[in-house]
Amino acid sequence: MKEHILLTSKIAIVMGARPQYMKAITLINKLLNYEIIVIDTGQHYDYNMSTTFLKQFKFPNVINLKVGSASHGVQTAKIIEGVEKVLLNEKPCLTIVIGDTNTTMGASIASSKLNIPIAHIEAGCRSYDRSIPEEVNRVVADTLSSFLFTASEEHVRNLILEHQFGKKYWVGDVLFDVLLMHFPRIVKEKTLDKLDICGPYYIATVHRNWNVDNPITFKTILKALNKSPYEVIFPIHPRSEKMLRENRLEKYIGSDLRLIEPVSYYDMINLIRKSEGVITDSGGVQREAFYLSKPCIVLKESTPEWKELVECEATHLVGADYNRIIQLLNNLPSFPRIKYYPYGKGNASAKIAKIIGDCIV
Ligand code: UD1
Repeated sequence: MKEHILLTSKIAIVMGARPQYMKAITLINKLLNYEIIVIDTGQHYDYNMSTTFLKQFKFPNVINLKVGSASHGVQTAKIIEGVEKVLLNEKPCLTIVIGDTNTTMGASIASSKLNIPIAHIEAGCRSYDRSIPEEVNRVVADTLSSFLFTASEEHVRNLILEHQFGKKYWVGDVLFDVLLMHFPRIVKEKTLDKLDICGPYYIATVHRNWNVDNPITFKTILKALNKSPYEVIFPIHPRSEKMLRENRLEKYIGSDLRLIEPVSYYDMINLIRKSEGVITDSGGVQREAFYLSKPCIVLKESTPEWKELVECEATHLVGADYNRIIQLLNNLPSFPRIKYYPYGKGNASAKIAKIIGDCIV
């Protein structure tokens, strides 16, 4: 017997922050038999953070809620209000939410209040630290979802331990699908020429609240990056840029630390692919480094969300420890031999589409 029966073939998919656009389009491309309502909350609104993705991935009609930045409460409230209006109008049989942003949580709340089942992509991912806003977003989305699609087996175990009610499916990481699907076009992009990069370099991304909101921590990271043996290319997220300016940290940017505007998905993958290694506090970039066989320095004390990467020594945890960052920048172990791919084979979106399709009558 089917556990979920969905009665129309209209599906809403909600996105709004940079990493969600390319995952959404990959899923949409596998859900071709359904009418898809694409909702962009507008959580991210800068050209480089949103429009560039919408253009590059040729989205079908998108309903933009233009929520923008605000405190977490206000931003989430606006997302709930906006998504609810669209869902009331469109009456989809399912809402798909992705990842762990305020968009994910707000859309889950709106959908559950209208009794519209939710499918959560990247379910079960846990840091076990509720002071991280994304952790709260994940727990809420998982609690409200009927379909819990996870990237790893460990994430299924997390959901079971929490007695989460939704049906759990280990499908693998949609981000891996995105990479495989776009790779032939990515390699044709002349990213390094465009950015005038010639020598060896590291690529860095730093934007999480625990690293950039505290000026002492952010300063420590910047000072350590300046001690790199290679140039460090740092596409700076607007949040980090704002913190840099407000805390007058510009003086800690030396000549070998090159700040650039946020880059497109294709450019980012090329920057990782051609680098000597990656420095990041992003879960997505950690996985992309892994799929591209690049060693990765992670600016976190622990990463239970993606612990398999640490276990196989593909990523190295340094927190914001000045000496440890410098030590790794100067002696970064080469990428290890990988015997097992914990996040699937890059066919997660097809599996998700099949499972959803089997429930639609
Ligand atoms: C959000 C997600 C995070 C994800 C990241 C990807 C939450 C809680 N966090 O973090 O999980 O890794 O997106 O980028 O949802 N800003 C701009 N222009 C923009 C977007 C943001 O100027 O287009 C600035 C604003 O000052 C804003 C700040 O960045 O207040 C933070 O943006 P917000 O969307 O709240 O969270 P992110 O840090 O981007």
